[in-house]
Amino acid sequence: MTRGPVDATTTDAWKALTELRAGFEPDLRSWFADDPGRASRFTFEAADLHVDLSKDLITDDLLAGLLALAEQVGLEARRDAMLAGERINVTEDRAVLHTALRLPADASLVVDGTDVVPAVHETLAKMYAFADRVRSGEWTGVTGERIRTVVNIGIGGSDLGPVMAYEALEPFRHPEIECRFISNIDPTDAGQKLKGLDPATTLFVVSSKTFSTLETLTNARLARAWLLDALAENGDVDRADAVRKHFVAVSTALDKVADFGIDPENAFGFWDWVGGRYSVDSAIGTSLAIAIGPERFGEFLGGFHAIDKHFAETPLAQNVPALMGLLNVWYVNFLDAQTHAVLPYSQLLHRFPAYLQQLTMESNGKSVRWDGTAVTTDTGEVFWGEPGTNGQHAFYQLIHQGTRVIPADFIAFANPAYPLADNHDGQDVDVHELFLANFFAQTQALAFGKTDEQVRAEDTPEHIVNARVFSGNRPTTSIMAPALTPGVLGQLVALYEHITFTQGVVWGIDSFDQWGVELGKQLAQQISPAVSGDASTARQQDTSTQSLIAYYREKRQ
Ligand code: F6P
Repeated sequence: MTRGPVDATTTDAWKALTELRAGFEPDLRSWFADDPGRASRFTFEAADLHVDLSKDLITDDLLAGLLALAEQVGLEARRDAMLAGERINVTEDRAVLHTALRLPADASLVVDGTDVVPAVHETLAKMYAFADRVRSGEWTGVTGERIRTVVNIGIGGSDLGPVMAYEALEPFRHPEIECRFISNIDPTDAGQKLKGLDPATTLFVVSSKTFSTLETLTNARLARAWLLDALAENGDVDRADAVRKHFVAVSTALDKVADFGIDPENAFGFWDWVGGRYSVDSAIGTSLAIAIGPERFGEFLGGFHAIDKHFAETPLAQNVPALMGLLNVWYVNFLDAQTHAVLPYSQLLHRFPAYLQQLTMESNGKSVRWDGTAVTTDTGEVFWGEPGTNGQHAFYQLIHQGTRVIPADFIAFANPAYPLADNHDGQDVDVHELFLANFFAQTQALAFGKTDEQVRAEDTPEHIVNARVFSGNRPTTSIMAPALTPGVLGQLVALYEHITFTQGVVWGIDSFDQWGVELGKQLAQQISPAVSGDASTARQQDTSTQSLIAYYREKRQ
């Protein structure tokens, strides 16, 4: 039974936090100087992740207040309800069980009278067998040639996870198979990604939970036409056979897959209890499984599971996702943070912030609670970021000296994927160490700043002293791990999934629906005839839209 949401703002803990906020004067310089145990007290381990919250704006009192809030909103009960398969996605009347996708084969999770684990592992086995056949060259295209390019066609959760992980795990990829990803309905995307491909060696994975998403179905049809036309140029082909050998699908709607002409034998299913943005660890990861192989994919899932266990079993006072989620609530609701930066010091994680944008913002961008009542606080903050050190030379200025509070997560790895040395003045310099020095330096600068005394001590002309002062007290979390392996990537994703969940519970919202994307989709369908010249549909639009469409029609050649 799903219980109604608690209005967090009416709890005693919220009142206590409001009082704490009134007298809150963050002073990381003194907090560290006066408390030699601060770094170790606020550093936590979760599986392979080493998470230092000591440069966050956290105190013992605040931590106690946030833990009380977690208790009063029922965070643990809600977590347990999710993990047990209760229908906590109330507006869609669904269970929320992405965590079941990474349960070991000998586990059991009975939902509505059925153990879901065997079906999860059956699908994994089917996907792994297929990935092995493609990797070994046993799976061939219609002309008998092995597959050299896998093109994933999907959007949102059916794209962002696979592409992010494919990029992140580049060192683990099959050397002779390239993956490409088509998502946008902008024809440029398909045009560019299909350019230069040999149809005889190309396999398409059409990934769509619903198999009804406009972008994905349009791109899948474009790809099918491209494949059949290109194959026909080189001689006669059996069209049905070509589609069977060059198209596979991942979906919960296997009937629609068959309607498209894809052999149901070559379709990998999943379940409505997996949200799109939580699905990279389902068969939606088929392109990734082909790229990195079943063994590595299994390690990826193992990483998710390790954090699931941590989240499920660790007392909240040491529970990393819960603590990070609660801190985010503090920043958003008490310190007025509107955004949150995620700054990976790893070029391989260059798509990680984009991935997290869907995870966090599609989940927590809500204004009503799960019982339909209006929220009485701000909810989801804007997540954004880019890898360091590139960001340092672009937007960090605003994080260091701007007027806004921007909590930032810094992520780094002890071991580089590419250990390169720079021979400089006859000495070999480990470039990863230079890189990490920047990672350490940035959080130090943000925390402790630079006082006017320090600036003056550098003989700075008086009129630019203020411009060179750094206030410090800018909150950061440092997340480190030994190396960016498939397992560690799974851990990072699961960490943010549970941070997002924690924030959603405090705000009382359903973090698993996404009604906010529907209106635009409906209107696009309604407007479409006007774009193609239908005058009566055009007249039904507002005057701004009418004039924009008129501009388009005038300029289109
Ligand atoms: O943007 C809405 C959304 O439903 C996402 O939640 C989802 O990841 C994406 O569209 C793609 O949906 P599908 O996998 O059904 O094509």
